[in-house]
Amino acid sequence: MITVETVASLRDQIARFRQEGKRIAFVPTMGNLHNGHVRLMQEARRHAPVVVASIYVNPLQFGKGEDFDSYPRTPSHDKVALLSAGVDVLFKPPESEIYPRGKTAQTFVEVPALSDDLCGAFRPGHFRGVTTVVNRLFNLVTPDVAVFGKKDYQQWQLVRLMTADLGLPVEIIGVDTVREPDGLAMSSRNDYLSPTERKVAARLYEALGTLRDRHRDKGMMLETVEENAIMELRADGFRPDYVSVRRQQDLQKPGPDDRNLVALVAAWLGLTRLIDNIEFEINI
Ligand code: PAF
Repeated sequence: MITVETVASLRDQIARFRQEGKRIAFVPTMGNLHNGHVRLMQEARRHAPVVVASIYVNPLQFGKGEDFDSYPRTPSHDKVALLSAGVDVLFKPPESEIYPRGKTAQTFVEVPALSDDLCGAFRPGHFRGVTTVVNRLFNLVTPDVAVFGKKDYQQWQLVRLMTADLGLPVEIIGVDTVREPDGLAMSSRNDYLSPTERKVAARLYEALGTLRDRHRDKGMMLETVEENAIMELRADGFRPDYVSVRRQQDLQKPGPDDRNLVALVAAWLGLTRLIDNIEFEINI
């Protein structure tokens, strides 16, 4: 694996692959890699002979009082994960390479249709930071394919919309969430959970399964199943930001004819904010 830290050396490397006529698949990350990331890199490999991954903890997507400073930076551990996943190039830039004129002067990219809803309503500016850095990384890496985890469902949909709106020649692939044996979605932030919280955390995914069954199999109203999930999560010690059922294709509120749905949740457990979702179909 080749590690590059500057835009110039990344571009040299990409030009070499292009001269060889090779397609490039890209997996952007913020490091502290887990098996969910490895799965994204394996998926990337299915789409192209060259896999580029990036590790960059993007300050633009953290709000005031969020965990930018304490976000786990684990370079030696990450190297092992990247090697095991067969990544060809790691792009690991300092801030000056991503935001050369300073992060406050940076041109930004925003997807208004979806940026302020769901998680965006609780993390103002977060998705603007995500789409801004992903767009810049796409312009630097120039991938044919980019792979995102569906655990961050709203982020995946936003990146799809951004790519379509800006006419970027990148195919966006979404990969199913990788879970711990008890169902907890793998996430870099799971490391923040205390042992007691970790035991409770799997309840989040159970609550989504219960919500799905109540709506899909028992015909309960969406508003009722959302409210029940919120009450039950509170009883388990969570502080939910939202539980919401949306259409898979655009995350808008479903109408009576919509069949492909996704239930999304964000909830705090102690000082850790967890997100998860479950896709399901309504049979006629
Ligand atoms: O999902 C992440 O790790 C980040 O939001 C991303 C896509 C790497 C952008 O910083």
